[in-house]
Amino acid sequence: MKAFIQSLPKVELHLHIEGTLEPELMFDLAKRNNVPIPFNSIDEVKAAYNFHNLQSFLDIYFQGTDVLIKEQDFFDLTWAYLLRCKEDNVHHTEVFFDPQAHTERGVNFDTVINGIHEALVKANNELGISSKLIMCFLRHLDEEAAFHTLESALKHKDKIIAVGLDSTEVGNPASKFERVFAQAIEQGFLTVAHAGEEGSASNIVEALNLLKITRIDHGVRCSDDEILVEQLAKDRIPLTVCPLSNIKLKVFEQMEQHNIVSLLRKGVCVTINSDDPAYFGGYMTDNFMAVHNAHSMEKSEIVQFTLNAIEASFISNYEKKRLRGVVEDYVSLA
Ligand code: HPA
Ligand code: ZN
Repeated sequence: MKAFIQSLPKVELHLHIEGTLEPELMFDLAKRNNVPIPFNSIDEVKAAYNFHNLQSFLDIYFQGTDVLIKEQDFFDLTWAYLLRCKEDNVHHTEVFFDPQAHTERGVNFDTVINGIHEALVKANNELGISSKLIMCFLRHLDEEAAFHTLESALKHKDKIIAVGLDSTEVGNPASKFERVFAQAIEQGFLTVAHAGEEGSASNIVEALNLLKITRIDHGVRCSDDEILVEQLAKDRIPLTVCPLSNIKLKVFEQMEQHNIVSLLRKGVCVTINSDDPAYFGGYMTDNFMAVHNAHSMEKSEIVQFTLNAIEASFISNYEKKRLRGVVEDYVSLA
């Protein structure tokens, strides 16, 4: 099954580009930019990746971003991730970036987006990997900062498909960003949001109602509200689930307790994604394998995760049909 999963065509919909910063690149960039980091070796970095909840991860994640300064750094980061996509047979990826994690440190918005975008274009040309870019607001910052970030994004509208919401969920409700999301929608952006990762099922309902999101990032706490699960299944509202992330951040104790397979069997449009793979122990194939190892599944169920991701993606109907064909051809020959 490992070979089948490795070669299965995949679509990734929940990936923070800053969360792909591998310790080796962190050291290289720290040296190149002369930025001090509180680690003496790669082993020390890896030992620090021992999280007990979302916040303990976020503290380390934001600290890691300090080494990203120049356009070339954002290019190198993104290119390294796209090469990993190629290994895992990811055909299309929708990438989050956190501009405020950089502009707060004095790095220009344009530097960030231009570096990322250049790598995405190169991957489309040279690796055959298509992509979309999603700009996230940090929910621990205030509404004014989000409005300011949206303003900076307007001249790059052609490079950004949607806006999202990430960082500390508990204590930072969707309502705080209702107005900025309304403005983003007016400007033509689609909307998504992290909800129901550490926060309750009611956060999912609130994000759907107030932020008009078309898919939910994580959303696994929906299981606390059976009526919500039925609505998600009936309306095919997608969840971008990140199995290894959920274990690392103790959303579930063990993969055997993860609800992704049970949601799949209830008809919810669940997808498998890697979130912050450099921090959580694996990229796409690793996430598929972790779910497969803990839950017995039919081959058709494993394939359904990719079909769901195609359905949930922001590509055109024509592209969706083409990708479904790629998956069907693979399955019929495998
Ligand atoms: N949750 C919230 N914010 C994040 C995450 C996450 O899993 N990864 C990066 N920022
Ligand atoms: Zn995330």
